[in-house]
Parts: sequence; structure tokens; C-alpha cells
Amino acid sequence: MRTGTPVREALDGAITAIGAAGCETPRLDAEVLLAHVLRVSRERLWTDRELIVAGPAVRAFQNAVRRRAVQREPVAYIVGHRAFRHLDVAVDPRVLVPRPETELLVEMGLVLLRGARVLDVGTGSGAVALALKQERPDLRVTGSDISSDALELARGNGERLGLEVSWAHADLLEGLSDEFDAVLCNPPYVAESERGSLAPEILRHEPPGALFAGADGLVVLRRLAAQLAARPRVRLAALEVGARQAPAVGGLLHDAGFTQVRAERDLAGIERVVVGERPGEGQSADREEASL
Ligand SMILES: C[S@@+](CC[C@H](N)C(=O)[O-])C[C@H]1O[C@@H](n2cnc3c(N)ncnc32)[C@H](O)[C@@H]1O
Repeated sequence: MRTGTPVREALDGAITAIGAAGCETPRLDAEVLLAHVLRVSRERLWTDRELIVAGPAVRAFQNAVRRRAVQREPVAYIVGHRAFRHLDVAVDPRVLVPRPETELLVEMGLVLLRGARVLDVGTGSGAVALALKQERPDLRVTGSDISSDALELARGNGERLGLEVSWAHADLLEGLSDEFDAVLCNPPYVAESERGSLAPEILRHEPPGALFAGADGLVVLRRLAAQLAARPRVRLAALEVGARQAPAVGGLLHDAGFTQVRAERDLAGIERVVVGERPGEGQSADREEASL
């Protein structure tokens, strides 16, 4: 006879502990952690009646639940990966955990001309650059970041996923070539004044350099917009912003020479991505397949 704790019982205890700690999705978290520890799918937790938590898995699950409940580590750091569009991207505390709303940035890139050169500024785990390359293999995609630690992880993701993206170490556009037709960016945009309102998962564990951008959260976006003003070849800029920042960032893009500026809402109805378009100069992309 096999000894161990039935899955349902193990989950119940974990859900109680994670919920009591104030985490928002205790059932989901517990299921993802247990599936990770047992190396099975979440579905199998409920369909395989033979499944038990036994042997080294007992300690491993306790440890994972403690990290989540006591230290408030994001689930993605504990399991080491996160789903983003059609990819499973490796993540660790060197990079921001990619958010579902950031998938909108990828969508903005899907409409680009065939063969267009795209730069994902502040690529972090590489999620945006890699997802775009996977969905539009014809695009020439580069991911850049000021953090060499982040770039190391992004490069590893590219190799593991077999996606040909170039990587560049740079402070925004400084020192990068003039070749890009489009710039996508999910920059740090949290205002210092909002520091106290961030969840412990974010404040304690995610890299500060991926989050904060001065008193009003717009310091990085202002610099990027100023650099874009001097890059007339960039025909499309799509910038992720925080709640209520879209009008200000729309103004920045307008001042940078983007003649058509709009905001795209995320699933929560928040204006999340500000998109600027302008007539391009010296486009290298194949215009026959123009869709922008
Ligand atoms: C909000 S995170 C976005 C990460 C990833 N693109 C995503 O959406 O999951 C911002 C990223 O910008 C990078 N970053 C911050 N300041 C930067 C700068 N001046 N130039 C380039 N990258 C920067 C950070 O290191 C971090 O990886």
C-alpha cells in the first residue's frame, strides 16, 4: 500500500495557509505549486485519483508553500517560469514577471510590415521580443535592456525556445543603431509615491530597476520619447503605461512627432498601451505587404 497525503488534503492545507497570508489567488497558487512539485499538469491533480504527495515531494511542497505564504514570493519565481502568449518563459528575480496586460504590446507589433525591424526596449525576460518573433517570424527583432542580468536570462530564453532574437545592452536607445522601424516598450512606470501601495510580491521580490521611474513614474518614458523624436525612421512606438498615465504619454509621443496617437485598453478597461504612428523615412520593410 502506498503511503502519503492525498492531493486534495495537501491542497486544502496549502490553500488555507496561502489565503491566510493575504495572497489573492490561494487555490490557483496552491495548485500551480503542487503541480510543479509533482511534475504533473494542474488538470492531473484532479483527474488522477492515484496521485499522492509522498517522499521528497512532501518537504518540497511545504517549502514552496512557505515561500509563497511567508515570504510572499511570486509563484512564477518559485516555479521558475511563466506563460506569456504562446510561450513558457523562464523567470527569476533578475527580471519582472511578465504580466498578462503586456501581451497587448505584442499585439501592437503583429500589424507591422513584413520584415520590419523591431526593438523591444527594457526586454527583461525577453517575453515581448520572443513572443513577437514566435508569432511573426519574418520580423527582425531585437530586445534591449540596461540590466545585463536580465539580458542573460533573456538570451537563455531565446536559445531554449529556438527563437532568433538579437540582444543589446543599452540605456534606452543610446548607442543603438538607427535601423529600427518600430519600438515597443514596457518601461518602469511606477511613481515613487506609490511604493507603499505595492503588493509585497512586487515590492520585496521584483527588481526595483524594472519598477520605479521617479516622482511621477514618467522619468523613463520622458527620456524615451525625447530619443524617439530624434529617430524619424521609427514609424510605430507602442509604450505600456500605468493607470491614468496615458494622456501624459500620448502628449509626449505627439511632441516627439507621432501624428496619430491612441491608447489601447487592457482587459480591465485601463488605457494600458499608448501607440504613436507617423509616416516613416527610409523604410526597409517590404511595402507590398503593408498593413500598417
Ligand atoms: C517593467 S520591466 C519590463 C520587462 C519585460 N519587457 C516585460 O514586459 O515583462 C522594465 C525593464 O526595463 C529595464 N530598464 C529600466 N531602465 C532602463 C533603461 N534606462 N534602458 C533600458 N532598459 C531599462 C529594466 O531592467 C526592466 O527589465
